Amino acid sequence: MMMQSRNNLEKGDELMKKALVLSLLVVSVLLLAAVAQAEHSYVGTKGCKKCHIKQWKSWSETKMANAFETLKPGVVADRKVELGLDADKDYTADEECVRCHVTGLGKEGGFTSIDDTPDLAGVGCEMCHGAGGSYTQDGLMTLKNKEFKRADVVAAGMIYPIEESVCTQCHNEDNPIPDYTFDYEAKKAEGLHESTPLKYSHD
Ligand code: HEC
Ligand code: HEC
Ligand code: HEC
Ligand code: HEC
Repeated sequence: MMMQSRNNLEKGDELMKKALVLSLLVVSVLLLAAVAQAEHSYVGTKGCKKCHIKQWKSWSETKMANAFETLKPGVVADRKVELGLDADKDYTADEECVRCHVTGLGKEGGFTSIDDTPDLAGVGCEMCHGAGGSYTQDGLMTLKNKEFKRADVVAAGMIYPIEESVCTQCHNEDNPIPDYTFDYEAKKAEGLHESTPLKYSHD
């Protein structure tokens, strides 16, 4: 009798342990799934312009800002011919082109069409800095909270530091340029937009 009840107790213990391990596993799988799913939505370039007018102004003159224009018929016609593209073709609705010439195609709040989402045409701020839907919320990157902690905005989707992999989402061999290679430092040095030193500490 004694032996048996101890056995039962041990069995019970064992079962409890198994149940605990199993529930911990389930919880961590759920957490991982939640992290993977946390998609931050795009706000569009105007949503950054109001607070970063200098960066916006110089960005708006870059080729990347105007990358959607490139897909229209007749635009940079000579270059298109050189690349073996059809200079008279309208590529603006061709997903095989659009994905690298706009902001957030297929993502929450991202580009859908030029009529519905004109503010997301071209390579916008959020393609390099991360979709702003979460990090521009109250308590994070706002005028009331100019000394926000960088770690907090990064946790909410801001990309920092910006590394080569941010560029090579688009600057890769899938573009129409033959034998394409990407020199990160050289391209970065061409200037992405005017830079102004930050006034506040974000450490
Ligand atoms: C309501 C105003 C506001 C909006 C909207 C806003 N920002 Fe900011 N942002 C700030 C302030 C304030 C700072 C800190 C400036 C400083 O330190 O001088 C900042 C800093 C930054 C920095 C530097 C962060 C760092 O840690 O080095 C980046 C990059 C940035 N913003 C990008 C964006 C982008 C992209 C958007 C649009 C999605 C955006 N911001 C929208 C106010 C704003
Ligand atoms: C969403 C895709 C995308 C991302 C991300 C991106 N680019 Fe671009 N970039 C383009 C496209 C498309 C063009 C060509 C625009 C055009 O002429 O129509 C371009 C053009 C450029 C040009 C101008 C080239 C020239 O001949 O004048 C530079 C410089 C550049 N990118 C650097 C960068 C760097 C550096 C990064 C990363 C920090 C980056 N890009 C991230 C898509 C992207
Ligand atoms: C994988 C991303 C990607 C895809 C897909 C893509 N492009 Fe681009 N495209 C780029 C990048 C990046 C550049 C700029 C490269 C550089 O100068 O370093 C560029 C440059 C160009 C240029 C040269 C612009 C200029 O001013 O010299 C044209 C034209 C162009 N793309 C048209 C198209 C068309 C049309 C399609 C679809 C058939 C397409 N692209 C598909 C990323 C892409
Ligand atoms: C092609 C990539 C790219 C695009 C597009 C881009 N940025 Fe940046 N931005 C950078 C890089 C690289 C830095 C340098 C800091 C770093 O490495 O994280 C930077 C720095 C900044 C900073 C920090 C302060 C400063 O002036 O250096 C702000 C603010 C900023 N960007 C806002 C914007 C806004 C607003 C837009 C759109 C109008 C924009 N950026 C578009 C790549 C980009």
